[in-house]
Amino acid sequence: MSQKEPSFKRNHPLTWCYHHNTSRWVHNATASTQTGPDAGIPQPALEFPDAPQVRLPAAQLPDAGMDQLLRNRLSCRRFSPQPLALQTLSDLLFVGYGILEIGEFGNLEFLERPVPSGGGLYPLELFAIVNQVSGLESGIYHYRPVGHYLEQLRKVLLPKALREYLIMGQASLAVAPVLLVVASVVGRSLGKYGDRGYRYILLEAGHMMQNVNLAAISHGLGSCNIGGFFDQELGELLCLDPDLAAPLYATAIGHPDSADRRTLRAG
Ligand SMILES: Cc1cc2nc3c(=O)[nH]c(=O)nc-3n(C[C@H](O)[C@H](O)[C@H](O)COP(=O)(O)O)c2cc1C
Repeated sequence: MSQKEPSFKRNHPLTWCYHHNTSRWVHNATASTQTGPDAGIPQPALEFPDAPQVRLPAAQLPDAGMDQLLRNRLSCRRFSPQPLALQTLSDLLFVGYGILEIGEFGNLEFLERPVPSGGGLYPLELFAIVNQVSGLESGIYHYRPVGHYLEQLRKVLLPKALREYLIMGQASLAVAPVLLVVASVVGRSLGKYGDRGYRYILLEAGHMMQNVNLAAISHGLGSCNIGGFFDQELGELLCLDPDLAAPLYATAIGHPDSADRRTLRAG
């Protein structure tokens, strides 16, 4: 292995400690904490009972070939002001974390989802910051996979300056008609896996986001994933209790502008 790579342990001791302390060894290979207050069957999704519910049109899965999707996968950083269709938003949420089917195994019922999940615990939650979607009021929405609908947490068109601030000044992404945010109710996984579960949560967020990215391409849209945001402020906007849940990842989605790299490449 090349010694020219930067030292993980020396340069980033906090990350190294986390990785080391959540590694499995022979003596803890079957570790499953299952003892904390968070152990047991977790709630399948956050609920916001006071929020108005908004029905989504039945979702459709993309029918584009994998070769075409992968060839066109690029981060879009120039969005046109064209709004997103509600059908498109519905499809993107569905490929992200929808329910494909309710399966049965013996007398157990389980939900079949478009992403794998460590232990089948599904610790993620999807939110949409809607700026311009035809047929949907601007606002902050939480996606409810069972029933495939939205909960309207806030009815507001966030000023562009605030959107830009939340994603740490990334002006070209703040103009996108929709920002999807992936958050996690972290304890759903940690109850079973202990601190190692945090790794699984981040991996699952990547699975979800790749589905969304590829589905966006199938709709002729661009997306740009966002790791740079102010965690606490974004969590507050999404009405998350910081003791339970945290935003992990976001993506800006919209029609690529004529000057975007992908449009230029296609033309
Ligand atoms: C975890 C993660 C976080 C990212 N965060 C940002 C971000 O905050 N802002 C941004 O413009 N791009 C972000 N990106 C996109 C990368 O910059 C981009 O994927 C990379 O430059 C390669 O370009 P490509 O996606 O066009 O192939 C992120 C990508 C990943 C995987």
